[in-house]
Amino acid sequence: MEELVSLRGIIKHFPGVIANDNVSFTLRKGEIHALLGENGAGKTTLMNILYGLYRPDIGEIYVEGRKVEINSPKDAITLGIGMVHQNFKLIPSHTVLENIILGLKKSGLVIKSRKIGEEIKKLAESYGWRINPNAYVWQLTAGEKQQVELLKILYRDAKILILDEPTSVLTPQECRILLQALRRMAKEGKGIIFITHKLDEVFAISDRVTVMRKGRVLVTKETSETNMSELAQYMVGRPVIFTIEKKESRPSGEAITIKNLKAFNDKGVLALKDVNLKVMKNEIVGIIGVTGNGQQELVEVIAGLRKASGGSLIVDGVNIINSSPEKIIELGIAYIPPEPLRYGIAPNLTVLDNLFMKAYRYKPYSNGVIVNWKKIYNKAEELIREFQIVPENPYAKARSLSGGNLQRLILARELSGLIGEKIPRLIVAAYPTKGLDVGATEFVHKTLIEYSRKGSGILFVSEDIEEALMISDRVAVMHDGKIVRVFRPGEVDIDKIGLMMAGVEIAFK
Ligand SMILES: Nc1ncnc2c1ncn2[C@@H]1O[C@H](COP(=O)(O)OP(=O)(O)OP(=O)(O)O)[C@@H](O)[C@H]1O
Ligand SMILES: [Mg+2]
Repeated sequence: MEELVSLRGIIKHFPGVIANDNVSFTLRKGEIHALLGENGAGKTTLMNILYGLYRPDIGEIYVEGRKVEINSPKDAITLGIGMVHQNFKLIPSHTVLENIILGLKKSGLVIKSRKIGEEIKKLAESYGWRINPNAYVWQLTAGEKQQVELLKILYRDAKILILDEPTSVLTPQECRILLQALRRMAKEGKGIIFITHKLDEVFAISDRVTVMRKGRVLVTKETSETNMSELAQYMVGRPVIFTIEKKESRPSGEAITIKNLKAFNDKGVLALKDVNLKVMKNEIVGIIGVTGNGQQELVEVIAGLRKASGGSLIVDGVNIINSSPEKIIELGIAYIPPEPLRYGIAPNLTVLDNLFMKAYRYKPYSNGVIVNWKKIYNKAEELIREFQIVPENPYAKARSLSGGNLQRLILARELSGLIGEKIPRLIVAAYPTKGLDVGATEFVHKTLIEYSRKGSGILFVSEDIEEALMISDRVAVMHDGKIVRVFRPGEVDIDKIGLMMAGVEIAFK
């Protein structure tokens, strides 16, 4: 079969780490090649090299049999290589069309934007997508933004597509649409590299699979010749148990009571119509629902990041609604935001700064006047060990961390009860396992359970029904700005849950 890409003996060092250690990798025409590996294994680095964002220290790149030098994304695009990054790069204040045209300008050519708009619409339709070229990017859902990223690449006639964890931002429905479109692209003869942590996707879509660990390729196999537990074992170097043990919860007092909560979304639409829910201490309440049914607005209102337009949030008998984020932190409410890179991390600051950006002002790290940096440094080292953050260097810049390690950093900051060294009374965790490898996912689950059994109340938002059922003591289904039903895992079968999420009213005992 024809080889589109061959990477040979790629070595790439960053200060203190070998991100790629003699990696060889091939992509064939018409193939979907899954690239797997734990957080920090070197997947993104390898793809950034192919896309011209980094230069390898050593190694060769062949495209369609020809040895090439790729010094910039421009070179890559000329060679027919396109990449959708782990975090989107579109400009929100521009339209879809403007984003796609950007960088397209050939000298001497006037861009005929109307014509391009038509072509983009057609291209989108050929993959089953409906995109309005004149919509602003900020108005789009994550799934639509990703379609625009892909259209941008496809419009430039790419035949080699790199997708870095494309499904971690998608709902299950959006995910199905993407996988269908990718299969079509492969049929058309494109080669697709698909980075993911989700093993079921590997089996749903890929022809071959490569596993990386600690900068090296461990194995490349035909997908039909391997299975989940073998891949998981390759990834983390030990058997992975896909189920979890948890003791019965003993709820003790209220962590928070949400009453008749109402709030608008960014588009000015009432997103929370009337939310009522109680979370007890020592209890995990899972919220499931199709994305966009108010989950995001709910967690933001609790964290003090969005104004409520009505209702109350009761903590210890006091209504704390519309308090400042600082006040809410002081009340012991921890928030794990859904998109750490957008909301949670300052990329140019160090790991230490990011860990302590909230806590440094409080005891025991400060007496209100002087900050005790020694104490902060020691605690940072401890957290890095406990949450297994790589690199193990408090002074590493956050932007040098892999996606999964950033997520660990956020967890360390939010869960460690830095403030006053108490454990949080309430942890609001929005999609905390997104983008995490199987080992880290297991770690997050265990950590949340551990905190709940030590006394925190946990509100856990997930798109993954099975994950929510596994972790939660009670599950709440959210639809159209309301909690439509609360039940215990096992009480309702999964088909019925799916229907409730879709807004179908279900009568049951
Ligand atoms: N710009 C950089 N500067 C310094 N170190 C870096 C840089 N980019 C990546 N690294 C390091 O290289 C290693 C590989 O990172 P990479 O982002 O390729 O991992 P990954 O496999 O994509 O992980 P994830 O699944 O978490 O996204 C990590 O140890 C990371 O900290
Ligand atoms: Mg990555």
